[in-house]
Amino acid sequence: MKISVTLSDLHDINVDLLALAFSKADLKKKASKTLAAAGISASVLDDFKAASGEVILLYPAEGKLRAQRVALVGTGEGKTVDDFRTAAVEVASKAAALELSSVTFDITGALPGGKNGVASLAEAVVEGGYFGSYRFERLKSGILDKEPKKVSAKKGVSAFTLRVEPALLADAEKGAEAGRIVGEAQCMARDMVNLPGNYLQAEDISKTAVASGKKYGYAVTVLRKKEIEALKMGGLLAVNQGSTHPPTFTVLDYKPKGKAKAVVALVGKGVTFDSGGISIKPSEGMGEMKSDMGGAAAVIGAVESAARLALPIRVIGLVPATDNMPDGSAQRPGDVITTYSGITVEVGNTDAEGRLILADALSFAKEKYSPDVLVDVATLTGACIVALGYRVAGLFSNSDSLAAEISGAGEVSGEKVWRLPLWDLYDEQIKSDVADVHNTGGRGAGTITAAKFLQKFTDGHEKWAHIDIAGPSFSSKGSLKVTGGTGFGVRLLVELMKQWK
Ligand code: BES
Ligand code: MN
Ligand code: ZN
Repeated sequence: MKISVTLSDLHDINVDLLALAFSKADLKKKASKTLAAAGISASVLDDFKAASGEVILLYPAEGKLRAQRVALVGTGEGKTVDDFRTAAVEVASKAAALELSSVTFDITGALPGGKNGVASLAEAVVEGGYFGSYRFERLKSGILDKEPKKVSAKKGVSAFTLRVEPALLADAEKGAEAGRIVGEAQCMARDMVNLPGNYLQAEDISKTAVASGKKYGYAVTVLRKKEIEALKMGGLLAVNQGSTHPPTFTVLDYKPKGKAKAVVALVGKGVTFDSGGISIKPSEGMGEMKSDMGGAAAVIGAVESAARLALPIRVIGLVPATDNMPDGSAQRPGDVITTYSGITVEVGNTDAEGRLILADALSFAKEKYSPDVLVDVATLTGACIVALGYRVAGLFSNSDSLAAEISGAGEVSGEKVWRLPLWDLYDEQIKSDVADVHNTGGRGAGTITAAKFLQKFTDGHEKWAHIDIAGPSFSSKGSLKVTGGTGFGVRLLVELMKQWK
């Protein structure tokens, strides 16, 4: 998608879809003037309420505008950049549905956060452009469609332009470029999540990371089964035991040009398909477990973005990857395994596999890189969906300042998180009679006991956070407007990493 910024007069913009954004407050003040200038009857305001994401399509009569269509789009309160991102998502989604190829989104006069905020506004709107126009079509042949030719000709939205005031051009261009980088990274993450288990194995996750590292100039190392065995990563190996595909452990390492202002380690759960293993899941909805590598996808997208944005920090991505399958050599419930740290785990339930592979990765990250900040992102528990639903991730941290930074990044990026406690009283639930710790904690507080389990493998690291993205990483058909992989976590992590300037 070509991203650009224009100063053109409204009337001169020749696009398939020209989007004019209005907040509820705008409707009272500036809307009638803008509409009159565009030759649109003010009676549209009887229908259009500027609710967040509301879109009304209009078809201008000959002569007034060069745009083929106008979209009035609501930003609701219109006070945050995320209000504008949401509006852009809806506009771009409409454009994609109508198979339009060019969109211009007017952000003149819209400055949540003041003039200094124009870069982040531009970034958010461009991210929204990518998010809304994203479609996952690569596994469709089109053979059975009524007009097979059209499918191959389908190109999606190919040009997305922002319209701004002349004084803000340079900042808007900077923001738009950042939006392109993060938007592309998030689309890549969504592709990975959407690819099913027979298209995306551990090796494919590693290949994607290697390709990204090559393209954007950061180092990627892939540890394969032999090395994983030599390192005694017993959690990753135990989960992989029932699989015919070998595990991988990928390390992405972006170093800035000058001295790094911080070292950040990002760990992402890369379970390419989670059948549950011997503790097999019910078949209803099991196919959605192709999305159990959403954490890995977010981490790869975040490291790629950090490199392309040339952030002044070192970012290390650590991605343990495998599928979780049952067969004669699979681990059994009741098995006791020894993790990389030496800590032994009683595997009460083979479906609590994410924490086993993350245990190894967290200990390895701490020991090998002593990062200033250690964050893991994982589709870890169904219980988190029960607690917080499909739009919000669970956040855990032993550092109030890190928790506040991540929560703040959630507001700006629109990828919201809600903090849950890490009180030691939950440790009781994951005690084992035979090993150091048990991998499940019974019915109550399943999200918290999972987090408490992970904490044991951070070796007292003082700035650790765990983000459970089981809910927002994937939407099943019909549950939300977006279906499939969302790439949740890419924008959140990028926003978090931007704090080191
Ligand atoms: N990958 C799942 C968690 C999950 C569930 C993610 C639904 C997205 C949607 C995880 O590996 C899992 O199976 N967790 C179990 C833990 C239990 C066995 C303690 C769960 O949530 O039921
Ligand atoms: Mn599982
Ligand atoms: Zn899982």
